[in-house]
Amino acid sequence: MKLPPHITVNNGHLHIGGLDCVALAEKYGTPLYVTSEDRVCEQFERYKKALLSRYPKVQVLFVAKANGNLALMRALGNLGAGADVFSSGELHLALEAGMRPERLLFNGSSKTPGDLSFAVEKGVKVSVDSLDELHQLDAAARAAGKVALIAFRVNPALEVPTHPKIATGLKTSKFGIPHEEIPAAYREALACKNIRPVGIHCHIGSQILDVEPFARAAEVMVRIAKELTGMGVKLEFIDIGGGLGIPYHHDTDPAPTAEDYAAKVIPLFRVGLEACGITPELWVEPGRSLVADSTVLLTRVNSTKTAHKRFANVDAGFNLLIRPAMYDAYHEVIVVNKADAPLTTEYTVTGPICETGDILAPDRRLPELAAGDIIAVLDTGAYGYAMSSQYNSRPRCPEVLIRGKDVALMRRGETIGDITGTMQRPPWQQ
Ligand code: LLP
Repeated sequence: MKLPPHITVNNGHLHIGGLDCVALAEKYGTPLYVTSEDRVCEQFERYKKALLSRYPKVQVLFVAKANGNLALMRALGNLGAGADVFSSGELHLALEAGMRPERLLFNGSSKTPGDLSFAVEKGVKVSVDSLDELHQLDAAARAAGKVALIAFRVNPALEVPTHPKIATGLKTSKFGIPHEEIPAAYREALACKNIRPVGIHCHIGSQILDVEPFARAAEVMVRIAKELTGMGVKLEFIDIGGGLGIPYHHDTDPAPTAEDYAAKVIPLFRVGLEACGITPELWVEPGRSLVADSTVLLTRVNSTKTAHKRFANVDAGFNLLIRPAMYDAYHEVIVVNKADAPLTTEYTVTGPICETGDILAPDRRLPELAAGDIIAVLDTGAYGYAMSSQYNSRPRCPEVLIRGKDVALMRRGETIGDITGTMQRPPWQQ
């Protein structure tokens, strides 16, 4: 199986960032998320370089929902990353990670009055999803004696080749304002005293393995930019979203790179904007393509059995990685302590959750397994821990971070006390 450079096999064991996954599992226990900080930084720099080589003003915003660990966000913030945040919680994280407020975009399709006031207080730009929200934000900014800088979230009505649950810019999607209504929305924004429209924002979907749809989105954005410039809107940034996919099937999926993306999208973008006589900043918001392959989820085989097929029952399930259950997502699995053993036997790798759908990896050829073996689930750095839960009253596992030869916890494992700690006894049960 093709592996990225930070994942290697040495003496029969899988290594990440040069460290033996068997030793990591022994030291920290399983299940365990293990992330290479170096890999995340490398991916970020690659993105930035690919875009900057073709356009002079670029801001890469990390999408905080993909992986909200502060250590990772701090590492990215130190490299100059901003963030797309989708909740007040994510805004707290981005600020605590030291990201600069002017590099943050508060995105969201259903913001509370509290969210809007918080965004105004912190002076971050807001991606506005509706006219109702625009007027609420105007009022919040007026109450604070400030002017809110905004972009509207454009719904470009584009079909994209991805799972329907993660296509976000379809005509029927819940996000944004239909592209044909966008000029009217900006007209309304220009009339608001405490609002200044300074950008446009869109996102067409996630896990897209073809760069063509991004070019279509860029065309829509350039067309809108032209119209808005004509109306007198001074565009300071155009945010064309994230969404570049990764090859979860290592040997067969296409693997578009940041360079492929930039080579396809930027020429259209640059030429279109030159024609309008503007050079706003180009903002992009990658999540998955920055962090997914930085991380493995280590899980131990509790037992094996042969029923209508062979099962390997492991200690991580959809409580820790919901993508297979939720999107039928595919993740490569490797037996960490038998990493170069022959793949002799077909197993379905199942989690410990009391649901039939708790299958991490169906029908995979693996070495003969025994209780105690450790399996690595690859490419789990995006929407892995971030979408975890305590279902079945399972405390979440720890996360460790590797940089160079150093390794440290970046989140301790939860205890049962973390589950019961927020519960309260009603007075009539005292
Ligand atoms: N910007 C916006 C406005 C988004 O909604 C998203 C993802 C991104 C950027 C980042 O997209 P990325 O570069 O990561 O593809 N939980 C799903 C993915 C949901 C994506 C939602 N929006 C999964 O595990 O596949």
